[in-house]
Amino acid sequence: MKIQIDSARLLSEIEELALISEADPPVVTRVVFTPADMRARAWLTDRCQSAGLSVRRDAIGNMFARWQGLDLNAPIVGTGSHMDAIPNAGKYDGVVGVLGGLEAIRALRHGGFRPRHCIELLLLTSEEPTRFGIGCLGSRLLAGTLSPTAARDLTDRNGESIDAVRRNVGLEGELENVKLPVGYYKAFVELHIEQGPLLEREGVPLGIVTKIAAPASARFMVEGDGGHAGGVLMPDRRDALCAASELILAVEQAARTSGSPDSVATVGMCDVFPGAINSIPSRVRITVDVRDTDLARRDHVMQVMEAASQEISARRGVKMRCELLNADAPADSAPFVVDALSSACRNQGQKFMQMVSRAYHDSLFLSRVAPIAMLFVPCRNGYSHRPDEYASIEDISRGVLVLAETLASLSS
Ligand code: GLV
Ligand code: MN
Ligand code: MN
Repeated sequence: MKIQIDSARLLSEIEELALISEADPPVVTRVVFTPADMRARAWLTDRCQSAGLSVRRDAIGNMFARWQGLDLNAPIVGTGSHMDAIPNAGKYDGVVGVLGGLEAIRALRHGGFRPRHCIELLLLTSEEPTRFGIGCLGSRLLAGTLSPTAARDLTDRNGESIDAVRRNVGLEGELENVKLPVGYYKAFVELHIEQGPLLEREGVPLGIVTKIAAPASARFMVEGDGGHAGGVLMPDRRDALCAASELILAVEQAARTSGSPDSVATVGMCDVFPGAINSIPSRVRITVDVRDTDLARRDHVMQVMEAASQEISARRGVKMRCELLNADAPADSAPFVVDALSSACRNQGQKFMQMVSRAYHDSLFLSRVAPIAMLFVPCRNGYSHRPDEYASIEDISRGVLVLAETLASLSS
C-alpha cells in the first residue's frame, strides 16, 4: 500500500487550530478547560467524526477517536498527544502528535488499509501543568499513577477544584472510571516536535525516543516580614524575596554541579506579596522544576535544594515550606515499538537517530500501562514553549508518514 500524506490539509489544520487561542497570533495560549481549550476540543471532535472515527471521552476529558479494527477483542494501537498550550506558546507542541496522528489514520483509510487491531487517536487532557500545578493529568489518571482522590484535591489559582471545573465544562462521570483496563493498549506511539536542537544540529530528520527523563517539581512558600521600604532598616529585615532569590540561585547551582549536563533545574514562577514598589516582600511563592535522565541524580539535586532552603531559612530568619508536586521516574520505550518505528523509517528510506526525551510527555505515564515509544521531528533552533516555535510541514509530514506505517504494522 502506498501511504499518501495530505500535507496541505495538515498544514491548514495546524494553522486553523493555532487561531483557537486565548492570545493574539502568533502567540498560542490554550489552558485546560478554558473556552479556547473547549472550542479546540469541539473542533477536533468534528474533524475526527468527519474522518469516520467514533469519538468518546472520559470524565477528565481524554478523548478517544476510534477506527474499528477487524478483531474487536484485540488490544488497541494508540497514537496521539495533547492540544493544551502554556501561556505564550507556539503552534506545534502536542498539536503535531494529535493532528499528525489524525492525518496518519486518514492516510491509511484512504490507502485502503484494514487494521486488525482498532487504532485510536487519543487527545490527552492537560499535559501542561499551567492550571492545576502538575502536568499530564489525563495520562496520569489513565495510568493510575494519580489517584482520583489526589486529583480531586487539585485546585487552580482561584481555588477552583478540578472536579468543579470539569463539571462546569460538561464533563460528567467519575474520575474512578478513567483508569485504563489492564492490557488496553498493544502499543502507544506519540509523534512530537523534539523541543531541543539535536536533530537539526545533526541534520537528521527523525528521532526515535528510547527513554524519557524523570521530572520533578515543587512549590516553595517563603514567609518573611513585610513593612515600609523606607522605614525598616536593613539589619531588621526579613525580606522574603531576598531569601527566595538565594534559593533560586541555590537551585541553579545544585543542577550545575550535579556532575552531569543531563541535570536541569528551572524556577519558572515567582509570586511576590504584596507586590508594591515601596513595600518589603513578606511572602513569596516560587516553583521549581528539576529533571534528569538518572533518577538518583535527580533526587540528589532535590535534596541539595532542600538542604539549601533550610540553611537560608535559618540564616535569614524566614520560613520556607516546600510542597512536592510530583517526582516521577523516567520511562523506557518498549523495544518492539522502537523496532516498529525503526523499520518504518528504513522502509521509507528515512535517516533517523535514537534519542532521549528531556521534555516529559503523556507517554511517560502511558508507559506505566502500555508499551510506548515516541517519534520526534526537528523544530527550528530547538525552540519550544515560545511563540516562534516552528517545525516545517515537510519535517512534520515525514514524521506522519513514518507514524502511519508504524501504526499499520502494529495493527496488522
Ligand atoms: C512538557 O511540556 C514539559 O514541560 O516537558
Ligand atoms: Mn509543552
Ligand atoms: Mn508537548
